[in-house]
Amino acid sequence: MSADIDVTVVGLRAVARDVLAVELKHKSGQALPGAQAGAHIDLALGNGLVRQYSLVNATGQTSMGSYVVAVGWDANSRGGSVWVHEKLKVGQSLRVSAPRNLFEMAAEHRRVLLLAGGIGITPIYAMAQACAQRGLDFELWASARSAPRLAYLEELKALAGERLHLHFDDEQGGPMDLAPRLQTQRWDAVYACGPAPMLDALTAATPHWAPGSVRMERFKGAEVPASERQPFELTLQRAGLTTTVGAHESVLDAMERLGVDYPWSCREGICGTCEAPVLDGAVQHLDYVLSPEERAEQRRMMVCVSRCGGGRLVLDI
Ligand code: FES
Repeated sequence: MSADIDVTVVGLRAVARDVLAVELKHKSGQALPGAQAGAHIDLALGNGLVRQYSLVNATGQTSMGSYVVAVGWDANSRGGSVWVHEKLKVGQSLRVSAPRNLFEMAAEHRRVLLLAGGIGITPIYAMAQACAQRGLDFELWASARSAPRLAYLEELKALAGERLHLHFDDEQGGPMDLAPRLQTQRWDAVYACGPAPMLDALTAATPHWAPGSVRMERFKGAEVPASERQPFELTLQRAGLTTTVGAHESVLDAMERLGVDYPWSCREGICGTCEAPVLDGAVQHLDYVLSPEERAEQRRMMVCVSRCGGGRLVLDI
C-alpha cells in the first residue's frame, strides 16, 4: 500500500446515524494533493489495516486544505469501520495515500444522473458538488433505509434543491424501482455507488443504454459461488515458482504462501493495488477496477480476487 502522507485528525462529526465524517490535515500544515470527484484515499488505520474511502470534498482542486471521508458503521466490518467509529480521536496521527481515482467523471458527460444508495453517497456527494460548480445539468437520486441514515442530507438539499430526489425504504416500503425510471436514457451517463443489489438493479435496467454511459463503483468485488471455484496451477514466470491455487484461496494468498511479498491494499478487488501482468491463462475477472475492454485484453488482473477459468495461469512476476 502507498499511504505515505502523514496527517492529523482535525475533526470528527456524525453526518447521519452510524456515519462519521473524518477530517484530515497534513501534519506539517502544508496543502494536500488535490483530486477530481470520485477519488479515494487509502487510510492506514492504527490497527494495521488499510482501507479505501472516497473523498467527499474532492471536486477537482489542484490542492486541498483537508481531506474529508465519511465512514459508515458496518456490523460485518472486518475491522476498518469499527476501528474508525470506536478508536479514532481528534489529534490522532494517521497515514494516507495520495488520492487515486477509479471512478472519474468523463468531461464529455454534460447531462448526468447521480445515483447513491446508503454510504455510497460519499463519492456521489463529491460529484454533485463538482456538477454544481461546473454548471452541469444533473439530477441526484439518493436513497437510504431511512432519512436519518442518509449522510449529508441537509447539505444535499441545499446543494441540489429540486434536482434532488430522495427515497427512503422505510417510507416507500422497499428500495427504489429503477427499471421504469431508466427505460429512456435522458442523460449522457449515470454515475452510481451503493450496495450490490442496487447496482445489480441498475445494470439490469440499462442494457439498452449507450456503451460507457453506466458507470458505477462498488464496495466489494464480485464473488464466485463456492461450487464454481476450481483449483488451478499458478506459475510466477520470473520467480521460477509454481503452485496450485486451491479452490478457497486467492492467487494473492497462494503467492504469499510461496513467500512472495506482493503489494495489496483492499483485498476486495476495488483499489487496483495488486494488479499483475498476465502471460498466459483464461482470467476470470472478479474485480471492479478494469474496464470491459481491459478485461477482454487478458493482459492484467487483480490477484486478490480474480481467478483462472482454465487449468493454468502464468504471471509475469
Ligand atoms: S488489493 Fe485492492 S484490488 Fe487487489
